[in-house]
Amino acid sequence: MRIAMGSDHAGFDLKDLLATTLESWGHDVIDLGTDNSVDSVDYPDFGAAVGNAVASRRAELGVVVCGTGIGISIAANKVAGVRAAVVHDVTSARLAREHNHANVLCLGARLIGAPVALDALEAWLNAIPGEGRHVGRIAKLHALDERNVEEER
Ligand code: RB5
Repeated sequence: MRIAMGSDHAGFDLKDLLATTLESWGHDVIDLGTDNSVDSVDYPDFGAAVGNAVASRRAELGVVVCGTGIGISIAANKVAGVRAAVVHDVTSARLAREHNHANVLCLGARLIGAPVALDALEAWLNAIPGEGRHVGRIAKLHALDERNVEEER
């Protein structure tokens, strides 16, 4: 699978670890930065970059990391077609994919440790997007995106 990744400085080390792990699992990683943990950068830039990569189908899924996962998730969710979910454990990661068809996983490097982040990543990737009632709800999310795009015109 092709997976776009992004982080700010606070998320850089965890992003690096997750990217290396994804590659070892056979995935193609598109790293959209940032490229170090020292220089302070702005999480909206990287959330938007990953969101755009997923919405344009340059990547099938995205993974973003900042200090809490919150700021970068808000940024990614501004892009129409993105369903970005902040998760803190394996169960929320699995359910984000099964129930919400989350196409961008958001993690907080200052809140969870690397082992939990890796387990959450694996659970999210292995989960199967649910059918039935979930599909109608995703369609309603899509309709909200469409409405927002219309309003921008
Ligand atoms: C950076 O200091 C921090 O604010 C950022 O990584 C993130 O936690 C924002 O949501």
